[in-house]
Amino acid sequence: MKYNLTFKPIKIGNQKIKNRVVSSAISINKANKDGSISENILSYYGNLAKNNIGLVVVGGASVSKEGKVTQNEIHIENSKKHLIGLTKLSKEIKKYGAKSSIQICHVGAQGNPKLSGERIVGPSKYISPDIGVECDVLKVDEIREIEDKYLDAIEVAEQANFDFFEIHMAHGYLLHEFLSPFTNKRNDQYGGSETNRMRIIKNIFEKIRKKIDLSKVGVRISGDDYIESGLNIRKQKKLISLLDSYGISYYTVTAGLYETAKYKYINMKNGNYWNYSQQLKKITKNKVITQGGIGSIIQGENLLVEKKGDLFGMAQALIADPEIVTKSLREEESAVFECLAHVKVGSCHRCRYLKQKDFNFSCVTPSAWQPNSNVSSSRGKDLEFWKKTISRLKNN
Ligand SMILES: Cc1cc2nc3c(=O)[nH]c(=O)nc-3n(C[C@H](O)[C@H](O)[C@H](O)COP(=O)(O)O)c2cc1C
Ligand code: SF4
Repeated sequence: MKYNLTFKPIKIGNQKIKNRVVSSAISINKANKDGSISENILSYYGNLAKNNIGLVVVGGASVSKEGKVTQNEIHIENSKKHLIGLTKLSKEIKKYGAKSSIQICHVGAQGNPKLSGERIVGPSKYISPDIGVECDVLKVDEIREIEDKYLDAIEVAEQANFDFFEIHMAHGYLLHEFLSPFTNKRNDQYGGSETNRMRIIKNIFEKIRKKIDLSKVGVRISGDDYIESGLNIRKQKKLISLLDSYGISYYTVTAGLYETAKYKYINMKNGNYWNYSQQLKKITKNKVITQGGIGSIIQGENLLVEKKGDLFGMAQALIADPEIVTKSLREEESAVFECLAHVKVGSCHRCRYLKQKDFNFSCVTPSAWQPNSNVSSSRGKDLEFWKKTISRLKNN
């Protein structure tokens, strides 16, 4: 079998994952306006689980309305409606034998009031150049409220039967902003020294450890921010040792913030994301998910062989073709529709809905998932477009 490691089950915390393919966290901006789970959300993540993914991570579920990137992102709220929707979602994923994780986040100072309809907040004054709005600086009592919101959100996700909760500490979102001296200029108990910059995280973990089995908690961490005063794996050793001491179960390694997006893609293409996860593997005993720019199962398998990670994550390859694992298991790799951006950086951004005028999540390949309301009559056209573009990109 050419995918010996990929299809070897692995234990994360107390859960046995049937294979080592993770669908990396992606938000698809298709929840209901109140952040509750829509039919499209159930269908999108269910389709991944149905297609033999080991661990399905539901992207960017915010701890509060203020923490949302856009109005149509998932928001975890302690209400009957939200709980019913989230329970259906974890059930839909697990029905196919996949394990379910839900990413818990707060957008912080990279929020956009025009998209979320909410005020934006951060540890210190900051204007994300893409957005151009200065955030409000959080007061200490507001930070404490946010710490409680993390606990509330994780408790709801636990009640909804998710196997894991992935806390987002990267991409320039709120917890990352507290951690990084680039965005945290506070001189109170939440800023200055490294211990103070980690305080919000420590407080959240102190709260959740009393209620939640911490072996169900994963963390998304930044391998490199691409900013001198920012973070990288080396600078986060203390954080990693703190998280390890709490008994978390996995890390997934990413990089960059909105402001440094252009460096992300070059580094991803050069395989640097996989180097960050390799570095992390040397300093933790926890499971590490490598990801970023993985376009095929064989590429993922090779990264496992090279010990860059214990599992590998894919986002765009699975947006472009959610059946990539199924096809690879059947040895039908030639039938996979590749993501255009994996062939050439910058060639396609359609799925990056924040960059689109209509904020609509979609993909240009004929194999991509379609919302329930869409008729699939354009698929023939999509196939022609994909074939033409991929051949042009490969021949250039
Ligand atoms: C449409 C879209 C939505 C995303 N949403 C999230 C998200 O909610 N949380 C997150 O941590 N990363 C998110 N990402 C980043 C992916 O998880 C992944 O790290 C990135 O796309 C690189 O991996 P890839 O080359 O496999 O796509 C998103 C990416 C895309 C394309
Ligand atoms: S829309 Fe483009 S970049 Fe996004 S997954 Fe599809 S092919 Fe790749």
